[in-house]
Amino acid sequence: MKILVNKNAGVCWGVERAMEMADETIAQKQHEGQNPVASLGPLVHNPEVINDFNQRGVQVIQTLEDVESGTVIFRSHGVDLDLYKKAEARGLDVVDATCPFVKRSQNYGRRFSRMGYTVIVVGDENHPEMKSVRSFIEGKYIITMDPKDVEKIPADHKVGVIAQTTIPSSVFKSVIDACEQRFSEVRTHDTICDATKIRQREAAVLARQVDCMIIIGGKNSSNTKKLLHICLEIQPRSYQIEHEREIDFSWFKNVNQLGVTAGASTPIPVIERVCRFIADRTSHRGALNQSLSKAG
Ligand code: F3S
Repeated sequence: MKILVNKNAGVCWGVERAMEMADETIAQKQHEGQNPVASLGPLVHNPEVINDFNQRGVQVIQTLEDVESGTVIFRSHGVDLDLYKKAEARGLDVVDATCPFVKRSQNYGRRFSRMGYTVIVVGDENHPEMKSVRSFIEGKYIITMDPKDVEKIPADHKVGVIAQTTIPSSVFKSVIDACEQRFSEVRTHDTICDATKIRQREAAVLARQVDCMIIIGGKNSSNTKKLLHICLEIQPRSYQIEHEREIDFSWFKNVNQLGVTAGASTPIPVIERVCRFIADRTSHRGALNQSLSKAG
């Protein structure tokens, strides 16, 4: 059985970067022989990874008040602007792992508001990224995914429109269209990151190529569920697993090509481990290098 893995499966570049920054911080602090390290919220929504970081000394905290001293890592979603000052006031070292794509949204939100524009952020107001971006905006703003909401802004305002990094382009466009109908001055900056879109597109392509699909990711992860849904529509033999022990090898009966993809909170080593586990127990035992190839 040949195993094909999506090229961009698993954690996105921004989360990978945050985990690397955490690794470097742990190494540096161990070298210096000092100080605890904490992350404000989990670095990635994967219990195994969080557990691993925890065993290496990274404590997950909910507020800055939970630590007295040491280093705090700000995760890829970004944090409220005032937390930088609060951390400084408490004498904490900050490792800022905010994804550069989120920083771009923060910067455009601030820039538009300084230029006198009412800012429209197209996104889910309850998402942590939105809570962060809104704190950078210095004037009026709304956060919405509903084009009708632009009517809440007086028609004589000039508006600047930005987006949550993970929303579909179609939603961003529908709000821009509504703005162009209503306001005489509309500036936009497309702050969408393609990571989610690329993963979904690749999963669909792979599901068409193979006889069975394995989707690795947390049962509570909405982007993993979405991947499963996309794959199931194409390949009914699609299965979601959190861990390799959930694999039922009867799934692979008469399977010549197996596709593997993973949600955005699954680290690459976990994908590799699952593939190795399958390869070691199927007919191509020992031929891992030939059977494992990247697709996408
Ligand atoms: Fe990931 Fe950054 Fe995009 S965290 S989803 S690469 S905005």
